[in-house]
Amino acid sequence: MVQGFGEDFKELVRSSTSIVDLVSEVVALKPLHGGRDFVGLCPFHDDKNPSFHVYPDRQSYRCWVCDQGGDCFRWVMEIERVPFPEAIESLARRARLEMPKKSRSNGTHENTGRKTDSLVVVEWAVNLMHQSLKTGPAAENARQYVLKRRLSAETVSNFKLGYHPEDWNWFLEKAKGKFTPAQLVSAGLIRERDNGAGYFDNLVGRLVFPIFDERGRPVAFGGRVLPGGNIESDAKYWNSLESAIFQKRRMLFAFNMARDAIRTSKTAIIVEGYMDCIACHQAGVKNAVATLGTAMTEEHVRFLRRFAEKVVLVYDSDAAGQQAAERSISRFLAQDLDLRVLNVPSGKDPADYLETHSSEEFYQLINTAPEAWEYKLQSILRRTDSQSVAGRQQILNQMVEFLAESQGLAGTVREDMILRSVCWRVQVDERTARQQLKDLRDKTDRKSPFRRDADRQPTGIGPRPENAMERAEREMLEIILTCPETIDFIRHHIGADDFENVRHQRLLALCIDLWKEDGDLPELSRLIVAAESDSELLSLINAVVDTAEEKGIFRLMTDQPSGDEQNGASVPNHLERVLGPILERREKRLNLVSKQLLSQTAKPVSELDDDTKDALRRLYNFRQSQMGHPSSMK
Ligand code: UTP
Ligand code: MN
Repeated sequence: MVQGFGEDFKELVRSSTSIVDLVSEVVALKPLHGGRDFVGLCPFHDDKNPSFHVYPDRQSYRCWVCDQGGDCFRWVMEIERVPFPEAIESLARRARLEMPKKSRSNGTHENTGRKTDSLVVVEWAVNLMHQSLKTGPAAENARQYVLKRRLSAETVSNFKLGYHPEDWNWFLEKAKGKFTPAQLVSAGLIRERDNGAGYFDNLVGRLVFPIFDERGRPVAFGGRVLPGGNIESDAKYWNSLESAIFQKRRMLFAFNMARDAIRTSKTAIIVEGYMDCIACHQAGVKNAVATLGTAMTEEHVRFLRRFAEKVVLVYDSDAAGQQAAERSISRFLAQDLDLRVLNVPSGKDPADYLETHSSEEFYQLINTAPEAWEYKLQSILRRTDSQSVAGRQQILNQMVEFLAESQGLAGTVREDMILRSVCWRVQVDERTARQQLKDLRDKTDRKSPFRRDADRQPTGIGPRPENAMERAEREMLEIILTCPETIDFIRHHIGADDFENVRHQRLLALCIDLWKEDGDLPELSRLIVAAESDSELLSLINAVVDTAEEKGIFRLMTDQPSGDEQNGASVPNHLERVLGPILERREKRLNLVSKQLLSQTAKPVSELDDDTKDALRRLYNFRQSQMGHPSSMK
């Protein structure tokens, strides 16, 4: 072995590593239905559909679009941009295995990747500033402020809070002989002066909140100006700029400390500020995290859903907080997540609240937090008169607008339930509300043709159905990809030429072929292999699976067996509902053909052209199949 690690040790590390857990630290994975494999958004390209697969059996991963793939070692090398020896070391550490002795004299650290560099530099800075806050002579003012905010010594050390003295070249001085200015720049510690004459430090004169990633490595900072200091700044907080190791739209402050509590309570509490989050933890509210000066994003939600079923957004009760809450929630309505929204009462933020209330009281508030849509309704009710007819109409209008804004909600069970509750609460007719929602959606669709697609399929980049027939085809494919065992039944009723859309035809043909020729069910993993690198087909498959998941096709197919028991097997209502129009359309087409055939009756069969013969054959087959399944399908 080149680097002094035996093959045995390498295999030991491999077998001690779960590729699923490892990848989950970076990519939100969800199980592929029925199987043991997982999918997620590919971290190696700008992935809109989950094309990234993880195979626990083979302990490997692969992106079917950009073709990145490998084992746990390759993964660490790619993600952390480190060479193999560091990858194996990191995995061994992770698995709590002791590294076999090897000679370190040949300088294993000389060619570490950029990302590792930054991590090392950031960690160095965290310790430096932490020491400075605890004991530094220049930190007296900062320590006073910490006391005033009632942060305990334990909290300061748990969160590794720090202080950067009022010295514009402090980092530069301290780093001499350790790191180059370029390294400090890429770690986000210093900046080049505008006129090109040297550098100056970020975070000067600030109380510093290190931001740790999921694995507990510091990757960035937030720094608060101190009252009574000499540093003038418009921004109360300075935050590290985005970098390879720090992305605000993904990162949640204190997640590394909250992970276990979130997992066990299945609930995540999201607050808006560093101080609020720290106050929560200090008071014993351990499942709190904070966004980093951004609103909650889809990435945050996707990430949290791996650990939590319920997410409670906690906002300040000032006007800005309420507006922020109302603005952000419609985007998450369609997510399969119990989303609650809470305004802390009487103009306070969570940190203020916890100064005079216990964690039990805070949890009680959390438990009474209304669901997101209910929160919206309550807000509207507060500012609108619900006694008058005009007022009620206004309330309905606003709620309908709110629902129409929500991506991916259209046609879901969730939408149905929300709409019903709203109508009941406002005492308006459900049909009217539904019609109003439909009209509004149609209007926005017409206004911007692209929006409609985005609305219906927030995660899909695949080709989208254009008309009723194509929609029916898509629904049929959704069924097959969700419940592959239906293929044998379905292929007895329809074939690829019953579809209009060429791509749909190809996917259906592939499903049927797999079953007929190889006896394989058209399971997702099998389909993806069969589609090989046909990116058009792959993106259709992805899009179909996404919508199927969003619409909860699996539940639709399993929860509602039709009362019609034929040959011991029942056909789910949903399947019947989708198959019906496709068969109907074919029948119409065939009737047309038979009329044309009738007009040709004078000719003997041998004189009929090929198309007509083909049509006759299909007509015959169709009638046969109808007779073969007389009542199950009619
Ligand atoms: P707040 O002003 O509510 O901050 O902003 P806070 O955490 O409660 O701090 P205190 O109580 O005044 O000390 C909420 C969050 O918005 C971001 C920060 O992440 C902050 O925690 N923010 C705020 C900025 O990024 N920059 C700013 O200038 C202000
Ligand atoms: Mn505050």
